[in-house]
Amino acid sequence: MPSIGAGNEYIFPNAYAIKVMMTRRSLSRRSLLKCGLGTGAACMFPSLAATSVGDDVVELRAQNVQFKFRQTGGISKLWFYNGISPGPEIAVTKGDWVRVKFINDLDVPTSIHWHGIRIANQMDGVSGLTQEPVASGESFDYEFVAPDAGTYWYHAHHRSWEQVARGLYGALIIGDPQSKFDRAHDITLILDDWWLDEDGVLVEDFDNYMTGKQGGRIGNFFSINGRPAGDTIGVNAGEPYRLRLINAANARIFSLGLTDPGCKIIAYDGQALDNPVSTQEVPILMSPGQRVDLCFVPKTKEVISLVDLDGTMTPDSRDAEPAALFSFKSAGHAHSSEMPSVHSNGLQFPHTEDALMVRIRMEGGAVGGLKSAEYNGALLKAEDLIENGQVWTFNGVANMPTAPLFSVKRGRSVVLEMDNQTGWQHAMHIHGHHFQVLDFDGNSPMQIWHDTYLVDRLDTVRIAFIADNPGKWLIHCHMLQHAAAGMNTWFEVT
Ligand code: C2O
Ligand code: CU
Repeated sequence: MPSIGAGNEYIFPNAYAIKVMMTRRSLSRRSLLKCGLGTGAACMFPSLAATSVGDDVVELRAQNVQFKFRQTGGISKLWFYNGISPGPEIAVTKGDWVRVKFINDLDVPTSIHWHGIRIANQMDGVSGLTQEPVASGESFDYEFVAPDAGTYWYHAHHRSWEQVARGLYGALIIGDPQSKFDRAHDITLILDDWWLDEDGVLVEDFDNYMTGKQGGRIGNFFSINGRPAGDTIGVNAGEPYRLRLINAANARIFSLGLTDPGCKIIAYDGQALDNPVSTQEVPILMSPGQRVDLCFVPKTKEVISLVDLDGTMTPDSRDAEPAALFSFKSAGHAHSSEMPSVHSNGLQFPHTEDALMVRIRMEGGAVGGLKSAEYNGALLKAEDLIENGQVWTFNGVANMPTAPLFSVKRGRSVVLEMDNQTGWQHAMHIHGHHFQVLDFDGNSPMQIWHDTYLVDRLDTVRIAFIADNPGKWLIHCHMLQHAAAGMNTWFEVT
């Protein structure tokens, strides 16, 4: 069992994610390592360099981990990359190759998906669509060019509703060579919630269609970078910081605030905003799979906190001020407080005039009970669907249809209308492409790119993108139990 110094109630194996830096033209092409967050805290993990197989190749190993969330509690069976969760942070520069030798030391098959990356299809890691799952004891080489700067993440994509919930995920940070933020001013926080029983053990009924048919698997133990909430780290007054938030939870939508009125949102889902927006005007709302990047400049003697606006993660503080999930305490004196600009990746805007129009009618779930639907090519009645764990449909089909939802010639624009006829919210994710949201409920939002977007209950959202990446791509709800229970489809770019 991985252990960490005694004295704290929780035993998480990683202090903070280890960052694996790969630079294209570094003098030594060896991977550099550092502990995250620049706190000077001792790094408690064995060096990854010891496990890498060669220059610029990162070795990721999915491993069984016996884990205690509470010192006095029971043992949970978790699955981690390289013995830690989040797995090692992989940091490269835009245009670099990412080379990962993946080894599956689990007893079950798995695969790795690189979420939000416009990647070659055969590297997308979707078991059953873009590759066979990697069997126990086998390995797979993932190799792709990092096309866009921004905040991305990787996670298991075979029975993801179980594998991600057991800890198989990590950050993938793609640096912008023109960026003014160095790694000491670039902080990644991965948020997750774990569902534990009274004994502090991870609840294992991953296939329970009841959680799947409601809001999904919502945890009761909250973590940031694999540690319980409430940490504080030191920052320098007057220096701008980039904060990258990643929602790795199965179903939870985070509603967050940063207690700094000057804080700006500078990117969504990895893609920089042309005009950063103040978090005073736009809340920090993150559905599963989404990322939000913030910039803040601490003042002299200031404590800035990331707070839980819902109060659902920290019920002890329900009536008080919103609880601090993570804090930054400034040292030194602030001289200036300028925010460096971030640069867009220059994605091509879709042409909506001659786009292929596609619609997804989303149905099912609790209350919206299905009467019948197609599943695996056959028309099934409600009882039989439930027997198969299926409670949601896209266009009357539960789970992966044999034929694609649509097939489109490379380069053509697609307008996809997502019509949510259910009483639940869904975090719709499209693989291999970023999209623009054209409108929702008649309102026209800002021109921003997403790879995952929260569609409200009984709402219709139209999105558009250029289908410029050949291959077979998944569209699914990132509330992972929803995907398990039917919310999956795919399209093909030819
Ligand atoms: Cu983040 Cu289909 O995945
Ligand atoms: Cu959903």
